[in-house]
Amino acid sequence: MNTKRLVFPRDAIARRVQELAAQISKDYRGLDPIMVGILKGAFIFLADLVRALDFPVEIDFVRLRSYGNGTTSSGDVRITKDVELPLEGRHVLIVEDIVDIGYTLHFLQQQLAARHPRSLRTCCLIDKKERRAVDVRLDYVGFTVEKGFLVGYGLDCAEKFRTLPEVYELLD
Ligand code: PRP
Repeated sequence: MNTKRLVFPRDAIARRVQELAAQISKDYRGLDPIMVGILKGAFIFLADLVRALDFPVEIDFVRLRSYGNGTTSSGDVRITKDVELPLEGRHVLIVEDIVDIGYTLHFLQQQLAARHPRSLRTCCLIDKKERRAVDVRLDYVGFTVEKGFLVGYGLDCAEKFRTLPEVYELLD
């Protein structure tokens, strides 16, 4: 039970996070951005990413709930904890752990765009392509995978495995 296959080891994640942070540092220097993490999955990625930037940023969080049948989300996404900082006129970067079907991010991008940020981009650690149902714009991507139920480094299965430092595929 819960056989796992290692997909992204710690050093590969750390390297990729550094590379993303270097690109984001270059693109946002002097722009005083706000980074918005999507709870809960993105909290570890966000924590590592912001500490690898070469300037301080403001951080906020949003929590979204997707109503579906357990493993597949429907398009019915709702905010259960909103961002608290005003976003109008600011450069906003959404930070997400994994984009799967795409409903969650699509919904959030629409919600935050309606608050008139100066710019709105998205950084996700893992772009999982196979089940994508809506076209979402991803500006910074750590890794691309086709499929698989991934856990670790913030990603869970029924609240288990989030604290693993590596990313695994659950095989059963
Ligand atoms: C997961 C993941 C993304 C979302 C992707 O979160 O962290 O936020 O699902 O879904 P989609 O692209 O298929 O719409 P989840 O709802 O499991 O909550 P969690 O982050 O609290 O684990």
